[in-house]
Amino acid sequence: MGCMVKFRFSLPVFLLLSVAVVFFSASGAHAWSKEGHVMTCRIAQSLLDPAASEVVRHLLPEYVDGDLSALCTWPDQIRHWYKYRWSSPLHFIDTPDDACSFNYARDCHDPHGVENMCVAGAVQNYTSQLMHYKEGSSDRRYNMTEALIFLSHFMGDVHQPMHVGFSSDEGGNTINLRWYRHKSNLHHVWDREIILTAEKELYDNDMDSFQEDIQNNFTHGAWSDDLASWTACDDLLTCPTKWAEESINLACKWGYKGVTAGETLAEEYFNSRFSIVTKRIAQGGVRLSMILNKVFGHQDHHYQQVMATT
Ligand SMILES: *[C@@H]1O[C@H](CO)[C@@H](O)[C@H](O)[C@H]1NC(C)=O
Ligand SMILES: *[C@@H]1O[C@H](CO)[C@@H](O)[C@H](O)[C@H]1NC(C)=O
Ligand SMILES: *[C@@H]1O[C@H](CO)[C@@H](O)[C@H](O)[C@H]1NC(C)=O
Ligand SMILES: [Zn+2]
Repeated sequence: MGCMVKFRFSLPVFLLLSVAVVFFSASGAHAWSKEGHVMTCRIAQSLLDPAASEVVRHLLPEYVDGDLSALCTWPDQIRHWYKYRWSSPLHFIDTPDDACSFNYARDCHDPHGVENMCVAGAVQNYTSQLMHYKEGSSDRRYNMTEALIFLSHFMGDVHQPMHVGFSSDEGGNTINLRWYRHKSNLHHVWDREIILTAEKELYDNDMDSFQEDIQNNFTHGAWSDDLASWTACDDLLTCPTKWAEESINLACKWGYKGVTAGETLAEEYFNSRFSIVTKRIAQGGVRLSMILNKVFGHQDHHYQQVMATT
């Protein structure tokens, strides 16, 4: 696969890669399912103001025809490739067992102790790279297309509760159990199983109506009053820490709680966790749009302030 380390792949290669994603996710990697990332990115793109929307279109490669969600799983596809192996620790955070807290200085590093190499550090990193977009090409040390795609993906991951999990069980990856009748693990239940079960059982395999339901919940439904608090962020570079803290708290309260390795999780677990999963997808999307509107858009005053301090 080393020779395919190219971004501007043709459509057939892209389809091949999609098969590869399924393969990789099935082999135990940390990853919000393809569906989770796609919904997060679609929600975000639907909330962009015209200026930000224009920049996003401009940064995306032509072959996706302006659709950000088409590339939101790309970082999961490439993380095992030699050229991008450095990006692998950026998808998650390992926190001390049972601490149920995230401390950036203590926890945000890779297995070798290299600082900032965790999903909260990555969101911060790619946000700060995109903040330079408006300064023009002179300060483009980084590839803005890659920064946009990495940010969009990692905003999904930082909101997946089990991506901020305990070290010894690798965020639930080593807690083997059954999901209804098939073998799975606790990490996968949160990455994919709950989403796929909902898609099949509640939405008759129609992802669009699934996404519409999530979107309706924050436009005029149960979560519409919470939108202001979701997007409250005084400093774009420290907010990822807050979002990661939310994740580990949810992982403790709803992910790990009451779960024993080897058991079967089914209806009861699904019913009580479903709306937590969808809310995290919604929050990831809403907050991604908030960031992109601030760094690319016109009308946000606070953006100037953030720029002035970086
Ligand atoms: C940015 O990265 C993408 C993907 O790796 C690549 O295809 C593109 O040519 C790069 N753009 C620039 C300006 O280097
Ligand atoms: C920040 O982005 C650059 C460019 O992609 C990458 O080399 C570096 O490892 C990233 N660091 C973090 C913490 O995300
Ligand atoms: C919408 O919100 C309600 C109330 O929190 C929840 O029960 C329901 O599952 C949510 N629907 C979706 C699709 O998230
Ligand atoms: Zn990921």
